[in-house]
Parts: sequence; structure tokens; C-alpha cells
Amino acid sequence: MIVSKSFIESPKARDAEFTTNQEDRPIVVQFAASSAKELADAAELVAPFADAVDLNCGCPQRWAMHEGYGAHLIQQPELVRDMVHQTSNRTNLPVTIKIRIHNDLKKTVQFVQTAEHAGVSWITVHGRTRSQRHHPVNYNAIKLVKENMSVPVVANGDIKSTEDADRVARMTGVDGVMAARGILQNPAMYAGFDTTPQECIHNWVEIAMKLGVPFTPFHQHLMYMLEKLHSKQEKQIFNSLSSSAAVLDYLCEHHGL
Ligand SMILES: Cc1cc2nc3c(=O)[nH]c(=O)nc-3n(C[C@H](O)[C@H](O)[C@H](O)COP(=O)(O)O)c2cc1C
Repeated sequence: MIVSKSFIESPKARDAEFTTNQEDRPIVVQFAASSAKELADAAELVAPFADAVDLNCGCPQRWAMHEGYGAHLIQQPELVRDMVHQTSNRTNLPVTIKIRIHNDLKKTVQFVQTAEHAGVSWITVHGRTRSQRHHPVNYNAIKLVKENMSVPVVANGDIKSTEDADRVARMTGVDGVMAARGILQNPAMYAGFDTTPQECIHNWVEIAMKLGVPFTPFHQHLMYMLEKLHSKQEKQIFNSLSSSAAVLDYLCEHHGL
């Protein structure tokens, strides 16, 4: 989620928040925004490099909601309608939204139908409300969204394996699934692996170094991928590493990479 306001205003924020390369397609760029102009301005900047723009209507973090971003927007259907409208008119890119569900599911159905009329190309639904963290995912709510929409619906929440993906797709009738923590921990998940083979991690490290992936995403991705290989103590040590070179040394020494 890129905060559109700082992305528009600051070249430094743009450099820090968005890097890509020619092989990085298809790519959907997700923004946090609180006005139609902000979203459309930010979308115009990435349009040459992007295949779609997504509006985050699901982030439940307090700072984001306070700024009028993320899950705050599921209470603002008219604003989201204008945001989708203006952005697709100005960029010609498909515009999509990712939402959390409401306590009252009738509101969720009304919300997604308003978004559909405004022209969203697909909708991703995380089946928890904005106050839920570890509650079971409400797949019936996702099914309800799917039954009430014509555009594709993507289900999200607690998908950690291809079996989970198949089960959720069957249960909800959705057109696709999205995994977040599952794919961060095991990027080879969709290839059917329970854990990502060392060789894949090795290849990824090589490519990341060649492309000059900045330290923070480099470190964070490895943290997730190596989670299953780490004891708590190892995790703490890994967490304290502060440069890509230190990470590489650590991987060579402890994991033979
Ligand atoms: C480290 C991390 C970063 C996330 N960042 C975003 C984000 O930028 N935008 C977004 O829509 N959701 C974000 N999410 C939420 C996930 O997309 C997803 O909705 C949530 O984790 C539930 O799906 P999961 O069970 O597959 O992880 C993030 C989640 C995690 C764990």
C-alpha cells in the first residue's frame, strides 16, 4: 500500500515506495487515498509501468483509518465511487478495490455493487471486519459478495496452501484467491511445495542482489521465507542484522546459501 499523498508530493517517497523492471508484469499498484484527485494523480504517475491500480479499502491500522484511508473507506461508498470513476477516466487503467467486510453484510453488498457500477474491474475481499484480527475468516460473506456481483471476485484470508486455495474457491465460487502471509512464508506455495526449497531462496537472493533490492524489503522477505528454518533465538539475531551484506554473511554461515 503506497500512500498516494506523499507519493504525489515527494520524489524521495516515489523512489522509496515504487521500483519495478521490465519483467515485473503484470503489476497492480495499490494506493491508500482519501480523495478522488489524490488517487487519480498517483495513478497517473505509475500508469506507464502498471497494468491496474488498486484502492486499499481494507487496512485496519489505526493511523490509516485516522487519515481516512483503508477500511475507513468501506463506510464511504459515494467517495469510493468517485475515486474509481476519476481514476479510470484519467488513466484508462483497470481500477480495483480490496475490502474488508462490514458487521452488517447488507452494507457490504451495497458497497460492492456501488463500486461495480462505478466501473471496478474486480474486487478482492478479506473476509474479516475492520475490528477482527484472529477471528475465523467469514467465507460465507465472500460467497455472498460473489453471488451479488458480475465482475470477478478474489477471496482472501488464511490461505496457506494450494489445498486451502482449492477449498476456498469451491466454498465461495470466487474467480481467484489471494494469499498474503502464506506466500510470504512460502513463495513456492502455488507450485505445490509445503516449504520453499533452499535452492529457490538461493536463486531469489542472487536475483535480489543483482537488481539491488533495497535492504528493508530484502530483509523482510527473507524473514518470512526463513521463518520455518529459524528458532526464536535465530530470529532475534536475524532481526538485528542491519545491512544486506550482513544478511548474506548470516545466510552463508547458517544456511549454506
Ligand atoms: C506484512 C503484511 C503486509 C500487508 N500489507 C498489505 C498491503 O499493503 N495492502 C493490503 O491490501 N493488505 C496488506 N496486508 C493484508 C493482507 O493483504 C491480507 O488481507 C491479510 O494478511 C489476510 O490474508 P492472509 O491470511 O493471506 O495473510 C498485509 C499483510 C501482512 C501480513
